[in-house]
Amino acid sequence: MLRDKNVVLGVTGSIAAYKAADVASKLTQAGAKVDVILTQSAQQFITPLTFRSLTLRPVYADMYDAGSRLAEQHVFLARSADAIVVAPASATSIARLAQGLSDDLLSLTVLATTSPVLVCPAMDSQMFENAATQQNLQILKQRGMTVVGPGVGRLASGHTGAGRLVETEEIAGALRYVLGRGGDLAGQKVVVSAGGTQEPLDPVRYIGNYSSGKMGYALAEAARDRGADTVLVSTPVAMAMPYGVRRVLVRTAAEMREAIISECRDADALIMAAAVADYEPAAAADEKIKHREGALTVELRPTADILSEASGERLIKVGFAAESSGLLANAQAKLAAKGLHLIVANDITTTDAGFGTDDNRVVILHPNGGQEHLPLMPKYDVAWRILDRVAVLLRERS
Ligand SMILES: Cc1cc2nc3c(=O)[nH]c(=O)nc-3n(C[C@H](O)[C@H](O)[C@H](O)COP(=O)(O)O)c2cc1C
Repeated sequence: MLRDKNVVLGVTGSIAAYKAADVASKLTQAGAKVDVILTQSAQQFITPLTFRSLTLRPVYADMYDAGSRLAEQHVFLARSADAIVVAPASATSIARLAQGLSDDLLSLTVLATTSPVLVCPAMDSQMFENAATQQNLQILKQRGMTVVGPGVGRLASGHTGAGRLVETEEIAGALRYVLGRGGDLAGQKVVVSAGGTQEPLDPVRYIGNYSSGKMGYALAEAARDRGADTVLVSTPVAMAMPYGVRRVLVRTAAEMREAIISECRDADALIMAAAVADYEPAAAADEKIKHREGALTVELRPTADILSEASGERLIKVGFAAESSGLLANAQAKLAAKGLHLIVANDITTTDAGFGTDDNRVVILHPNGGQEHLPLMPKYDVAWRILDRVAVLLRERS
């Protein structure tokens, strides 16, 4: 997604400037060409050398540097940028951008660009809450800039409150979101389910499964990166909330059913990557079940079949079949029985793919019996390939 994208990273005079080194590094590792602009104040906190070493590119710290390309064309960074990220954005720089000033290289570059601009504020909470800063941020939003954060927590000033620079992953997610707007899934609502359901036995125990949610979250991120209006129906998992995705948190199969049925009414595609319990306890105990001699018998009853039930006027349905034996035959039978447009089969007995891993090896099965065997690849890449097929189905449908 970020490969070969030209990203201008504007770093301003905030104590969080050191975190911008991580942003520059991660964006570079993701394949972006990162051109860093440092304000004069930023250079009190961090040196151009740090960014030059991380990005392997020139760093721009002086608008009037006769030795840089700026001397030939002072707006070349504004023109070449696919996106500009100001992180951290100080109160002063936010005010400068809101005023439309161009008295330093960063404000000049923002003023001269037509590309998306992300502004990630970082400052003391009282500076952030000040009406002047709030109004300036409002102006930036009204002009179409995307304000990311700030986070809430302990600040360098010793206060606790809003003002922390958001994590690098959130900045990268927001960047992918703005770059993906207008992608091939723009205007389509895609619902993705993720995680393993938790069926309560008593107030402290549940029947669950080993699903990590990684495949579903990768699908939601990839759908967002292609411009879809993405809804993630997820159980509680140890995954960061993807920027630009609406998440609906559920716990049980019954809650997941309710959320999915409701979200699918006006959706274009449903991709069920969640591991939904096939059975739930007929009744959960009101009190914690005590240890005692002898066996404990719990009556289980079948849960609803969400994939079969979910419907919408124009819904493309994609299922997952996690199987420990008879992979392709079982997946093909499930595809037919549930009236799916595609099913993604993965063998959960292998150790390098499936539950909890970062990679997956899947087979995509089609209703006409066609099979696509994909090699082992990161779950995000698997998600992208599944969405390639979904995009074709959506085009055919319209
Ligand atoms: C130690 C120290 C830390 C600072 N941290 C911040 C900060 O986190 N956010 C902020 O808006 N200003 C902060 N400032 C004030 C800015 O550096 C100052 O407003 C400066 O004019 C910002 O200029 P710039 O936006 O052109 O980089 C800090 C100042 C000092 C001395």
